Amino acid sequence: MIVEAYQQCINPTCGLKYSVSESRIHCERGHMLDVRYKGSFPKYLQDVFYGRRNYGGNIYNESGVWRFRELINFSQIDTENQAQCAKVLVSLDGAEGRLSRPYKMTKVAEFVGLKPDNLFLQPEGYNPSGSFKDNGMATALTHAKMLGVKKIICASTGNTSASAAMYASNEGISCDVFIPKGEVAPGKLGQAFQFGAQVIEINGNFDDALATSINEAKKSGAYTVNSINPFRLEGQKTMVYRVLEHLKWEPPDWIVYPGGALGNTSSAGKCLIELHEWSWIKKVPKIAVVNSEGANTLYNLYNGKYQNVKLRWNNGMVDTEVIEDYYQYMDKNQIRPKTEATAIQIGKPTNLLKALRTLEFTKGIVTQVSDKEMYDGMSIVGLNGFDCELASGSVPAGIKKLREEEIIAKDDVVVGILTGRQKDPNVPVKYHLDPSNKFANPPKAHN
Ligand code: F0G
Repeated sequence: MIVEAYQQCINPTCGLKYSVSESRIHCERGHMLDVRYKGSFPKYLQDVFYGRRNYGGNIYNESGVWRFRELINFSQIDTENQAQCAKVLVSLDGAEGRLSRPYKMTKVAEFVGLKPDNLFLQPEGYNPSGSFKDNGMATALTHAKMLGVKKIICASTGNTSASAAMYASNEGISCDVFIPKGEVAPGKLGQAFQFGAQVIEINGNFDDALATSINEAKKSGAYTVNSINPFRLEGQKTMVYRVLEHLKWEPPDWIVYPGGALGNTSSAGKCLIELHEWSWIKKVPKIAVVNSEGANTLYNLYNGKYQNVKLRWNNGMVDTEVIEDYYQYMDKNQIRPKTEATAIQIGKPTNLLKALRTLEFTKGIVTQVSDKEMYDGMSIVGLNGFDCELASGSVPAGIKKLREEEIIAKDDVVVGILTGRQKDPNVPVKYHLDPSNKFANPPKAHN
């Protein structure tokens, strides 16, 4: 199946279109871009995707990303032609998304106040580099390869750099990663070194690192693989496809993500808008975004905590002045994002506008949790035999809060995305050595 793909500006009053063979992160008026497809897709593809789980020797069927290749076919290949897939699609031998799907976790369900059958958590830490980023890196690198790119570049709190470095090394492409010095989990930093990326340390936070890396990309022509890149977000849609497939395409009431740069929030919204447009789903799950209290730009702006204005997508007519004011206020008052969940220590989320579009379309909400709540969330996931990092612990913590506030109702079906696996063993060790923590499991001396 081949359909026409193009890039289009997200601003409805602008709507400029570009070919998929152009490498750009904004339209010429400075707005963000989407990857779009002409026409709609037949529902029988659901059976094709399901059938591919019996993948035989085909890594493009084995991959939890490329299994859904018709819906992310910006390279416009014949999706049933294995030789074309092998030539064009970038995959780590079918490993991305292969093991990630929703799981029931009874102890977490009890913790958050939902029935055991109503809560699902999807561990994206089961990806080859250990986070959800591999879903999008497979597609971003596919686009980079289409364009004949020699070097990719990104800023990162750690997982993006690990994933970018892993995919780049596998494709023989060089990779520069800009990281906030001293603020990246050692396991993530080790991955970037190990996969041969050039690490460039910034004296500043993620927001500074991103601005620097985008500037460098402009100067050097390197290809940006941060979530500002619309081709990356195409791959991240497959997380939602896997959720829906597991639920037999009966949408849950809620899908819950941690909020950092808001790439996930944005890709989920785009995915649901498309599925709704093609009549694959009638009900639209609400997206809940969980910010850390220490890095809560979306929470503040969406909930009217700044200048009493509730920032909205408003059919694309976003009040961007409020955003600029807020960023100036942060800079002037030296308000820097600060949370132990360094993965989501982000003050200026790149995808803010696309996230607002998601929240409007899905009637979503934004909440925030403390570091302590994230620690408990991470630890109860552990007691179900699953592993996640602190930022992902925001998901059970956020669901619990929204249940207590009755925003999530007791019979609602909720799917939470556990975005990454633990890459800093000192985080759980510190938690469990302090017996005052809710789920602490301290060691005993032998006597
Ligand atoms: N969870 C984890 C484990 C992450 O690594 C990130 C982002 C997020 C959540 C936030 O996701 O940006 O889509 O809202 N990590 C980026 C990085 C910033 O550089 O690895 P988002």
